[in-house]
Amino acid sequence: MIVLMATFISLCASISSKICASAALCRNAPGHMQILYPCNNTIEAVVGSKLEITCRVLSELHTVGILVYWLANHTYIEDYSKNNRVKEHKTERRGHEKSYLEVTLSFSQVERKDFEVIFSCVMLSEKLDQERFISINPVVSNGDSQIAIAVAVVASIILISMIIYKLLKFKSPQTYVIFN
Ligand SMILES: *[C@@H]1O[C@H](CO)[C@@H](O)[C@H](O)[C@H]1NC(C)=O
Ligand SMILES: *[C@@H]1O[C@H](CO)[C@@H](O)[C@H](O)[C@H]1NC(C)=O
Repeated sequence: MIVLMATFISLCASISSKICASAALCRNAPGHMQILYPCNNTIEAVVGSKLEITCRVLSELHTVGILVYWLANHTYIEDYSKNNRVKEHKTERRGHEKSYLEVTLSFSQVERKDFEVIFSCVMLSEKLDQERFISINPVVSNGDSQIAIAVAVVASIILISMIIYKLLKFKSPQTYVIFN
């Protein structure tokens, strides 16, 4: 019974930790010039699929003199992907009081070697230099997570029926006494 409960709890923990990891939030100081995303996190991708990762930088009114670019394992993207499989493109959005600089890293096809690389977005400016990291993990195959969920469901059904059985067993002598 205890073993079963322990397995059940650890299964739940392993499923929810994945959800927690993907929903990891950046603790950004509000309002300041900084890299808003990425935040030293990981994302998942499938080999052969397209992928875009946007580095989002919050700046003050003007974006003059702010340099934002990506690195792959500390080398420039042009050197990491000489055949243009991975490219950067920049956009700028001017808001009322703030501006955003966005540099998107786009993969025409994710390759296995991307999983071993640490990508980082670098922001250089007069006031502040910042670097934030992101890595790509292969997607856990759908089959695996479905099996994990199925096992968890079966385990909880067994657990609940055992609890009900114990409760009934505990109650039955009392009813017996009453009817005697
Ligand atoms: C991200 O990692 C860098 C280098 O390890 C570190 O200096 C920085 O504080 C980290 N930022 C966050 C938001 O965790
Ligand atoms: C990137 O660096 C890691 C270790 O820091 C290494 O294992 C990996 O092979 C490197 N990848 C490329 C494509 O250079």
